[in-house]
Amino acid sequence: MAVTVTENGRLFTIHTANSTYQMKADKYGVLLHLYYGRRTEGSMEYLLTYADRGFASNIYDCGRDRTYSLDLLPQEFPVSGTGDMRSTAFTVEYGNGITGCDLRFSGYRILDGKYSLKGLPAVYAEKNEAQTLEITLKDTEGLVEVTLLYGVLPELDIITRSAVIRNASEAEVRLEKVMSANLDFVSGDFDLITFYGRHCLERNFQRTPVAHMEQWIGSRRGMSSHHYNPMMILAGRDTTETAGNCYSMQFVYSGGFSGCAGMDQVGQTRMQLGLMQEKFSYPLAPGESFTAPEVIMSYSGEGLSKLSNNLQECIRRHICRGKWRDQVRPVLINSWEAFYMDFDGADILALAEQAEKLGMDMVVLDDGWFGKRNDDNSGLGDWYVNEEKLGGEMKELVYWVHRKGLKFGLWVEPEMINEDSDLYREHPDWAMTIPGRKPVLGRNQLVLDFSRKEVVDHIFKSICKVLDHGPVDYLKWDYNRVITDVYSHTASDQGKVLYDYILGLYEFLERLNERYPDMLIEGCSGGGGRFDAGMLYYTPQIWCSDNTDPIDRLLIQYGTSFGYPAGCMGAHVSVSPNEQNGRVTPLNTRGIVAMSGTFGYELNPEKLSEEDKKEIRRQIAKRNELAHLIYNGKYYRLSSPFEGESAAWAFVSEDQSEALINYVSLQIHGNRHVTYIRMCGLKPGSIYRDKETGKEYPADGLMETGMPMPIAFGDYGAVQICLERV
Ligand code: GLA
Repeated sequence: MAVTVTENGRLFTIHTANSTYQMKADKYGVLLHLYYGRRTEGSMEYLLTYADRGFASNIYDCGRDRTYSLDLLPQEFPVSGTGDMRSTAFTVEYGNGITGCDLRFSGYRILDGKYSLKGLPAVYAEKNEAQTLEITLKDTEGLVEVTLLYGVLPELDIITRSAVIRNASEAEVRLEKVMSANLDFVSGDFDLITFYGRHCLERNFQRTPVAHMEQWIGSRRGMSSHHYNPMMILAGRDTTETAGNCYSMQFVYSGGFSGCAGMDQVGQTRMQLGLMQEKFSYPLAPGESFTAPEVIMSYSGEGLSKLSNNLQECIRRHICRGKWRDQVRPVLINSWEAFYMDFDGADILALAEQAEKLGMDMVVLDDGWFGKRNDDNSGLGDWYVNEEKLGGEMKELVYWVHRKGLKFGLWVEPEMINEDSDLYREHPDWAMTIPGRKPVLGRNQLVLDFSRKEVVDHIFKSICKVLDHGPVDYLKWDYNRVITDVYSHTASDQGKVLYDYILGLYEFLERLNERYPDMLIEGCSGGGGRFDAGMLYYTPQIWCSDNTDPIDRLLIQYGTSFGYPAGCMGAHVSVSPNEQNGRVTPLNTRGIVAMSGTFGYELNPEKLSEEDKKEIRRQIAKRNELAHLIYNGKYYRLSSPFEGESAAWAFVSEDQSEALINYVSLQIHGNRHVTYIRMCGLKPGSIYRDKETGKEYPADGLMETGMPMPIAFGDYGAVQICLERV
């Protein structure tokens, strides 16, 4: 049993294989957080201390006892209105800006299996793999009822959190702040690890000490964003990849979010993650409920690699779904960097011809095939095939590509509309624009109002019409601007639009998955602007970045790996010099870096030399040989591209019989010293053989002192070393 309840139904303990999470409804009915960390037995209530601290407020119930303050005690779901002046998890407003609320314990339920959330993505599991704990809290004055949800996947050391909030009063209430998860620590010297970025350089690793201030990350953009990933890690000051405590929170949501970590007046740490508060004010009529998106939490006492392994496995098998979840994805060639929008049907067929000769599996027709779309100023919203440009019908093109033994994929950007489109001319109010104001533009396009059912239905119907002409084997779902003008022309209340928009998006994606269960869908948002666990529930892979330079990609894929598996990261080989930053790199290096993702190409093979084509054929064969390991193996970061002279990472099969080391040299010098790369995850006491050279290495030696890498000659050399256990 993962969940146990003792002390007359008031002490709740969640055990996973290596962690314990504990909370207690105390004598006042306040749900206090007692402990999260290394697995332990017994009550951890002894950790709580009570003292009279000046200027710390006391709830009325404790009378003259000034030692009891919710400004200081660790809590599960701290609420504004109880004297907790730190960042709370919940603010509810009723009538004229009043925000009082006081939640007390009212009951609990334990269920087999993992809960699911209405209209929202969530971790799923077989009934025997998971348990659910529901704890209900009620406002003392009957305003709202909150059900806290805890999902436990014991084997993976995963605990998820969500909350359902019901208006229990007789008048409207407004939710002003909802943080899905809150973690309080009574002590601890922590660093906060977050992943910031921008278009073309997403998810940079950043580690800062948690200090006496609140550090916030988040997105006001209506999407999870390039700028901060909705994932944060709290790590002990001396925690490394292989040792020490660390805790993560990861949002299963694709809209705006906010996350915070900070130390309070007496040095206690609080971390929380939930919805972005700005432009959020959700009205609930009497009896109505609101569901907070889920947060995935994990704990590792063995450093960051183990934490990432937990999260990667959770995403891989308990977030990603459908036919493609466990399958190696097709090697694709995408038309974007080959032609941008300047192509015709013959060009696409020529691309297919080349793809077939080079041993690829699929051709993807990117932007430019529909409506009036020869540049990015028009056409979005008009999802009908530009037959003049393609020189025929879509079904003919698909037919010819299939005839070559290749799969066929298509690009769409369903949530967007250009002013220069038939759809906009017909339904200008379907775009999110603020009445009486000129709209803010992004890539010269507007966002369609997906909080409206008729908009979602219309776009769904028009895109299905194209897909039905296929069959189309793959769909790239793009999203290329942020939401600035938060206004729905039909909503009864603008405070709910951003959340309802995301529900509309998820409903569309759910319907698409149901209707085309065999179709592989790749998420995208100007590269990796919406790379989150919410999207991965519907699209088992996401284009990692519009930046295809392998050296920048080392940074991007390194940061991404903290929370997401390699098999989810869309990664392609493109030309050199790179078209985003002009860097020159060897084709072999480009291949090795892209191979640690879904893998494919984004170039025009007709422009390649015979030598390069030969190298591509070799790369594809190599990738196919290694794909099972890359998609299913445990991932280890061996050196950080942010720090050292090299980047190295490895995959090790579950049974430790095979391993793949990847190494890219980032600096060259005359008479350079040797770099030793220390391996992780091998079977201690055994011997591993290099499959290519036959050379043998003791596992412990590789993990203790490392393997000498070849001395690089020339910029950005890279090697892959495949090991098998002898
Ligand atoms: C975005 C995507 C690119 C490409 C273009 C097409 O930027 O990230 O891969 O599809 O749109 O307009």
